[in-house]
Amino acid sequence: MFWPDTISKKLGIRYPLIQAPMFGVSTPQMVAAAAKADCLGSLALADLSADECIKLIRETKKLTNQPFAINIFAHEIPVVTSALKEKFVKVRTFLEQLARENNIEVSLPYFEDIKVNGYHELIDAIIRENGKIVSFTFGNLDGKSIQKLKENGVTLIGTCTSVKEALILEESGIDMICVQGTEAGGHRGTFDPNHVLQIGGLSLLSQVYEQVAVPLIYAGGIYNAKTLQAVKDLGAQGFQVGNLLLASEESALEPFEKERLKNVNEDEIVLTKSFSGRYARGVKNKFIEKVENSEYILPYPYQNKLTNGLRKAAKSQQNVDFVGLWAGQSIHHYSELSTEEILRNLINQAEEN
Ligand SMILES: Cc1cc2nc3c(=O)[nH]c(=O)nc-3n(C[C@H](O)[C@H](O)[C@H](O)COP(=O)(O)O)c2cc1C
Repeated sequence: MFWPDTISKKLGIRYPLIQAPMFGVSTPQMVAAAAKADCLGSLALADLSADECIKLIRETKKLTNQPFAINIFAHEIPVVTSALKEKFVKVRTFLEQLARENNIEVSLPYFEDIKVNGYHELIDAIIRENGKIVSFTFGNLDGKSIQKLKENGVTLIGTCTSVKEALILEESGIDMICVQGTEAGGHRGTFDPNHVLQIGGLSLLSQVYEQVAVPLIYAGGIYNAKTLQAVKDLGAQGFQVGNLLLASEESALEPFEKERLKNVNEDEIVLTKSFSGRYARGVKNKFIEKVENSEYILPYPYQNKLTNGLRKAAKSQQNVDFVGLWAGQSIHHYSELSTEEILRNLINQAEEN
């Protein structure tokens, strides 16, 4: 039997294969398709408001009656200072000018227009909506939230990018840990955004496995039976795939973005904090080149909120130079089949290997 069963038994799924939460790319349809493949889907809610989250949870529940994970950001919100507000004005002006120079019409928000959401308001909403699995990234939940969720029978999955973070999650009673290797597409889950570690999956998973007793899910670079087998051998009991599903039928990416992925080279997959203020892995483009090493980067979530309008405008113009296109290091042929078929193919490959 290929599949370890600790995680699948606990989560009520057949295969411990997890469709990665991918905010902006994964959809309720993708979550339902993963469930159809007898895997775990993940609904990415990032730092949306409670009302927006409730809407998406209900939409997903209409599409599937199988268990799915609700994924949120456990980030700390920066203190608002006059220095932050001043820098915001400078970054806003710079970005609007950059957009104009590149024929993108956009009016970016003022500081006062920005609404910053923390995860606390989501905890009660998730409990009310009867969420049973919550995964999170960018830090740990506070003790009170952990207690509340556990009292309501919610299984918790935290994300680590170092042994130190894994130990913190374990000590605070988190049920399972998603070990994110640096290969992974999208944001690094690192707790401290100013101290981002880039530990490769092989080193990280093996060391976390030696030091932590809770079941481990591995994320980062899995794209075929061999990569699955390798991380299973290193101690993973669950397997999370994101990059593999980017071009799937249920992905929210536009056809021009899927096309770009199909032509991407390995030296174009980079880490950048230019879009959000937190490091994320994605496809290098003109925006990253202009902003990455500049003084025009605000802390998360302000950079993210400010570049959002620019990215949306670029997307509507099919302008690949200014969209935030996240991708991992395992470049493959980016299948456009349904999420269900892609996951089933991986399951079959793993069982035949
Ligand atoms: C487009 C994209 C968006 C992502 N958004 C999230 C997110 O909202 N929450 C989260 O915990 N991880 C997010 N991630 C990270 C994935 O959950 C996962 O760790 C990663 O995709 C695994 O590596 P792989 O891409 O090599 O499969 C994102 C990844 C991608 C590619």
